[in-house]
Amino acid sequence: MSNDLNALKQALQFSPDNIPLNLLYAQSCIDEGMIDTAGEAYEKILSLENDHLDARLGSARVALLQGKLSQAAVRAEQILQQSPNCGEAYIILTHIHINESEYSLARQKYTKAIEQNPSLKDPGIEADLKNAPETERPQRMGIGDDGSYAQTEAPDTQYEDSDDEPRGGEAFDLGLSDFERPKLNFNGVGGMEALKEEIRMKILYPMQHADLFKAYDKKIGGGVLLYGPPGCGKTLISKATAGEIKANFIAIGLHQILDMWIGNSEKNIHRIFELARKNTPCVLFFDEVDALAADRRDLRQSAGRNLINAFLSEMDGAQSENDGVLVLGATNAPWHLDPAFRRPGRFDRTLFVPPPDAPGRAAIIDVMRADKPIEELNAKALAQKTPQFSGADIKAVFDLATEYVLTEAMKSGKVIPLKTADFIRAAKRHKPTTASWFDSAKNYALYSNQGGMYDEILQYLGLLK
Ligand SMILES: Nc1ncnc2c1ncn2[C@@H]1O[C@H](COP(=O)(O)OP(=O)(O)OP(=O)(O)O)[C@@H](O)[C@H]1O
Ligand SMILES: [Mg+2]
Repeated sequence: MSNDLNALKQALQFSPDNIPLNLLYAQSCIDEGMIDTAGEAYEKILSLENDHLDARLGSARVALLQGKLSQAAVRAEQILQQSPNCGEAYIILTHIHINESEYSLARQKYTKAIEQNPSLKDPGIEADLKNAPETERPQRMGIGDDGSYAQTEAPDTQYEDSDDEPRGGEAFDLGLSDFERPKLNFNGVGGMEALKEEIRMKILYPMQHADLFKAYDKKIGGGVLLYGPPGCGKTLISKATAGEIKANFIAIGLHQILDMWIGNSEKNIHRIFELARKNTPCVLFFDEVDALAADRRDLRQSAGRNLINAFLSEMDGAQSENDGVLVLGATNAPWHLDPAFRRPGRFDRTLFVPPPDAPGRAAIIDVMRADKPIEELNAKALAQKTPQFSGADIKAVFDLATEYVLTEAMKSGKVIPLKTADFIRAAKRHKPTTASWFDSAKNYALYSNQGGMYDEILQYLGLLK
């Protein structure tokens, strides 16, 4: 529970009948994902003031989030009797109708909501209605960086030429944004040679030689899970894979999937996979996949299960053909992933991303030194002084060293270039962050090493030959 929420709770103990305070508490509970508690707070207000409009609305929203659709509908109707111009109540009814697949009713209610209050325009709803049967062709939508829906430009189409239909066709109208085409490639990732080779073998070559694979009747696709301690380059190498690859690459943030409204997260997952299927060969990258099971923003307990099931069934290609779709996932808590994720055809290949060894660290240092005012830096020497450091730790050393010199530079008013000694001094001050990860990882590897999944951790720790 956050500090604010605690403070509110304490304040309520002193004045339990304070309506504004209860309202604030309820809203904060919703923000924290504590839906049931929020519901209690709204009921408390209604017991004090039966027709309190905001509390009635809050209570209707809570019911909706809890999946109690009829209760939500009753509340919304009550509100409209009391206040026929309440656009928010129409929005709640819209969601209920969408959930019941009653799209024309949903459209009516949504139109009313917007008539009453144009600021209630909700691209999420519009996307749902657009994908519903019997609809005129609406505008193209995408999910923005902040998870909101937004209009997107037709994506950049600098892909390798291919004879299939032009990109930017149907797939992009499904409601999802961009193919990422980051500038970063393997050159921007220091060291990790073994992993790069594995990625080439398991991901790049199969994607690039799809025809050959077809000739041998071998499917490409499935899932690869990258796991390892924080800051060791899982996200970085995944993004760099996109730059290396001659296939489409879609990076998905979980915020792009998780949606407050019931059922929408599942729909978003489906849209993403459909987009990939229509644009094969394609890599779908889910960063921090473990959060799929655990994100607090997904408000109902059972919803987590539904979401996982939706994700798994998309991975299985239960309803559709996933040939040519490779799912890449990254996590530093693979043990929090439901074991169902690792069944054949899902994330059945795992790659451990360990902290860099000394030559790896030297390579990372060489990548990071570019464009910095460095007089001399002995990468090898610094690498020797930074055992157990992750890439992120090395970055911290660079930042710290820069700070030292900057302080001096400000005193003298001149640019003072960095030297090896500054870095070594900084390295002494910084504690590597990987050790604590290995402390807990070791226990999982020793005591719940499903099918040898974590052997690489044991090898790294010298506990397995
Ligand atoms: N091999 C590397 N070469 C260059 N920079 C690196 C390398 N590894 C890590 N870094 C630096 O460390 C930062 C953190 O790496 P990244 O975000 O990829 O770690 P991660 O394994 O995804 O961590 P987390 O588990 O916390 O998500 C990168 O942004 C980069 O600055
Ligand atoms: Mg990461």
